[in-house]
Amino acid sequence: MRALLGCIFLLAFPALNADEPKAPPAQPPAPPQSPPAQPPPPAPANTLKPADRVEATPKGQLKNPYTDDNAAIVEAGHKLYMRYGCNGCHGGNGGGGICPPLINDAWVYGGDDDTLFRLVTLGSDVLQSKGYSRIAQENVVAPMPPMGLIVATDDELWRILAFVRSNFHGAPENKFGQPPEAVSPNR
Ligand code: HEC
Repeated sequence: MRALLGCIFLLAFPALNADEPKAPPAQPPAPPQSPPAQPPPPAPANTLKPADRVEATPKGQLKNPYTDDNAAIVEAGHKLYMRYGCNGCHGGNGGGGICPPLINDAWVYGGDDDTLFRLVTLGSDVLQSKGYSRIAQENVVAPMPPMGLIVATDDELWRILAFVRSNFHGAPENKFGQPPEAVSPNR
């Protein structure tokens, strides 16, 4: 009954509400985003954290499913590289900043997919504890932090590494470094 009276009251005195602030005008619809030329393919269903992928895979068998001539993957990898803060140390395009460049001839532990994936996942200290050692000298010598629990999936890390490779500026024959067995018998 009281509610009904309230309604009647409002109907009878609509002017009482006239000074109420008006609701803000509806936002204009966002302009349509131009679709990317080639949408990156969705991540495969069975992805693992990079740390778990490293545990699950025998040494030497990690292989990037993506090549760095795939523009959509490289672009997705660049975004992830920025999101995970790799640029803070290595520069926006991997040219090096306060840390070693990712795009020159020198690969500190080797330039093959398996070694790069393990280095970024485990970080320098754990990698070294597994018998790896520095085989090339960069302008900066410091440890790479472990990112294997920060980067969400192995698929994301492969995209990031495809982006890294796409920026390689060194001699073509050094793009993938040398296979680990050619560098040191201990690894
Ligand atoms: C806190 C700074 C820092 C961050 C953040 C960082 N790195 Fe590194 N990274 C380093 C350092 C230092 C090295 C050299 C490691 C060594 O000599 O043991 C390195 C080495 C590397 C190498 C090997 C370079 C070579 O020439 O052999 C790759 C590839 C790499 N980092 C990728 C990444 C990626 C991808 C990310 C983000 C997921 C990342 N890094 C985040 C500091 C960093």
